[in-house]
Amino acid sequence: MADENPLTDPAADSGGDPNQRAAPGRVAGALPVWPAARAEWSTKGGSVVETDSAQTAATGAGDGVPPAAERITEQAIASFGGCAHPRFRQVMESLVGHLHAFVAEVGLTESEWAEAIAALTATGHITDDKRQEFILWSDTLGVSSLVDALAHPTPTGATESTVLGPFYVPDAPLRAYGAGIAEQEAGTPAWVHGRVLDDVGRPIPGAELDVWQNGENRLYAVQDDDAPDEHLRGRFLTDADGRYAFLAVRPVPYQIPSDGPVGRMLAHSSRHNWRPAHIHVVVRARGFQTLTTHIFDAESPYLDNDAVFAVKPSLIASFARRAADDPRRPAGVRSDWLEMELDLIIAPGQDGTPADPGRTH
Ligand code: BEZ
Ligand code: FE
Repeated sequence: MADENPLTDPAADSGGDPNQRAAPGRVAGALPVWPAARAEWSTKGGSVVETDSAQTAATGAGDGVPPAAERITEQAIASFGGCAHPRFRQVMESLVGHLHAFVAEVGLTESEWAEAIAALTATGHITDDKRQEFILWSDTLGVSSLVDALAHPTPTGATESTVLGPFYVPDAPLRAYGAGIAEQEAGTPAWVHGRVLDDVGRPIPGAELDVWQNGENRLYAVQDDDAPDEHLRGRFLTDADGRYAFLAVRPVPYQIPSDGPVGRMLAHSSRHNWRPAHIHVVVRARGFQTLTTHIFDAESPYLDNDAVFAVKPSLIASFARRAADDPRRPAGVRSDWLEMELDLIIAPGQDGTPADPGRTH
């Protein structure tokens, strides 16, 4: 369940547990904003790199921090002092402190701030129910992967998690053990199978695998007007021995959308927008933590420089090549095919709680 959000839910204000997620928070005035900014400005000898000279003069950079600037930061942080929701107060004070420190450290100019506002405005304009440019910012700045890594410190032995990505669509069709997920021709057949196990190696019967991937045209079904909605996605249940199997196709690398502000940021930064080939998997089982992850193809380019920083070495796996006349050929396959055997290990749920319904980031 998502935490209450005091910004969107008027009922979610004070009453919460004050200790909820409470890390020892910074308090107003404790953020190292101005000492850091002073040090930065003095080491640059007053010349702030790539800033408007008029702005540099206006801020007084070079001969110390303008007193008004320091006061503004203190006032902005202190403005959250009356907040009754401790976690919200902690997050906002820290956000404002770090934001001010960033502005001070780079000597952000008026024109740069205007550009940033324009980029955020463009982000809102291009976002709709099929395109989420805000998440793309989060992905390409590494924040999605960081939030995931903090939320899912993998217990020893369990399969590591990674980001959900924007192409997950709930309620994929429930398919039979070993069934294909391609509703039409989509690439080299790939038989993916293994077991779902707990962290001490016991099989988990009745676990649900929710899988989705792209095909050789690089597209997910949700992006592809020429594919049925159920193409290249499906849910599978493990059998009594914890086994799962499905017939996928070899996934291919693809480019994240580049026709919006995030694409302009990547181009301006000489960064590419490719992701390495992968199959998405969510594993759910009652009493266990839901695992949201990818299986990356070991032969794919971009494993070392994923545009969204989601690759973890433990998630890279190899397809073995199989001939068309191999007697183990899965039903419906007539060409050469690939095989991957992979066990997925999930961690027990906290306090024996049932599986959560899946994450949305
Ligand atoms: C994906 O894996 O589908 C994805 C993740 C982050 C950004 C774009 C795509
Ligand atoms: Fe993907």
